[in-house]
Amino acid sequence: MQARAPLMIEHRLIERMLSVIKEALSKIESKHKVDPVFVDIAVDFIHVYADRTHHGKEEDILFRELKKKPMSEEDRRAMNELIEDHVFGRRATKALVEQNTRYRNGDETALAGIIEKLQTLIEFYPKHIEKEDKVFFPASRAYFTDEEDQAMLAEFLEFDRKMIHEKYKSVVENFER
Ligand SMILES: [Fe+2]
Ligand SMILES: [Fe+2]
Repeated sequence: MQARAPLMIEHRLIERMLSVIKEALSKIESKHKVDPVFVDIAVDFIHVYADRTHHGKEEDILFRELKKKPMSEEDRRAMNELIEDHVFGRRATKALVEQNTRYRNGDETALAGIIEKLQTLIEFYPKHIEKEDKVFFPASRAYFTDEEDQAMLAEFLEFDRKMIHEKYKSVVENFER
């Protein structure tokens, strides 16, 4: 298995969640109301799975290793764009959390903001995923030997192993605050 395989498998689950959000969004729009708990669950998925676990492996391992390589100008630009996309996704998610809190506290005007941010996320992520799957991952594979690729794969799996512990440690710590 190549190192990019787990990243691409994760993309498929992210796409499935985006479909779930898309379907929920049409109901939210037609009923003019949202279940804040659904937004919490969507945010948790984006935050813990898509950002921390998935983007975490991309940024902390793949991009870190690529930065050691003599990348072409084009590939370097593409990588910086992907990093900016991750930042954009984080900001949109943070804004979504803020709107959801307002909505939960009785401010119905926050519904428009929730709809807008969910829409932003379902439009932006598929484009980001496509750039990685079709262009960036194949291009970046060429910079690594088979041994280097396998070393990254091992590091990816170790990164994942720690995630469940990090997640539930943070659950406990949030209650202890
Ligand atoms: Fe990414
Ligand atoms: Fe990705």
